[in-house]
Amino acid sequence: MTEDELEAALERAARWLRGCERACVLSGAGVSAESGVPTFRASDGLWEGHRIEDVASPDGWDRNPALVWNFYNARRANVATVKPNPGHHALVAMEQRWVDRFTLVTQNVDGLHLEAGSKNVLEIHGSLRQTRCLTCGAVTNRGLEPLGDAPECPQCNGRLRPHIVWFGEGLDDDIWMAAMEAADRCDALLVVGTSAVVHPAASLVPIARRKGATVIEVNLTRTEASAYADVGLYGPSGVMLPKLVERLA
Ligand code: APR
Repeated sequence: MTEDELEAALERAARWLRGCERACVLSGAGVSAESGVPTFRASDGLWEGHRIEDVASPDGWDRNPALVWNFYNARRANVATVKPNPGHHALVAMEQRWVDRFTLVTQNVDGLHLEAGSKNVLEIHGSLRQTRCLTCGAVTNRGLEPLGDAPECPQCNGRLRPHIVWFGEGLDDDIWMAAMEAADRCDALLVVGTSAVVHPAASLVPIARRKGATVIEVNLTRTEASAYADVGLYGPSGVMLPKLVERLA
């Protein structure tokens, strides 16, 4: 994008947002990239040298739960060393404009939106910071402390798994319904740092569009969501989102 194109796009996006009653954001790995959390699809389908099906699927878990825990402990340790970036903080500022008419739907499991201070966050793919007991079902917030390769439930001593939605698994019904409702009711949807190829998350974009919402895309490149976008801000979200928020004042 040339500087003039970017200015025009920022102004259009800001105009729409200023007139917007109810706002929704769909975020993905790109929003955390500038914090130092690696995105998934930038790495040839390998995640820290592992095949996805070995570390992020029910079959992989059945085959080797210790490998899965070691992988998630490594991701947890990585997130413990990073901080929210200006993109996360800009979304906190945006929420303050709409308060309870703002929903941030994130595919990210790093917890950085909540750490930054966003309030109405739906973590539709779960969280690296939470465990789920395979015996009693308790979901527990464990922060980012190391958990070993066979952690047990503090309540019932059952086996714990990461509270993450793996490939081939369904989303939590209540969280997904809330996300669909937010996309359905908003009049502007900001799609930030996602390749928009993983469903059902990506379907929030056409859901919002069909109801007449304005779709604003923020990404380094065009994506599967671009066809639905009324305006695209192509550049790093840590730069684009603060520029957009500046214009909302
Ligand atoms: N600013 C904005 N966008 C960025 C930046 C940045 N600094 N860096 C990368 N991106 C964009 C890339 O261009 C890409 O479109 O972020 C997107 C990252 O895409 P993916 O790695 O596919 O991540 P995401 O869309 O969140 O993946 C969805 O798939 O990996 C599974 O369940 C996991 O939640 C994840 C889901």
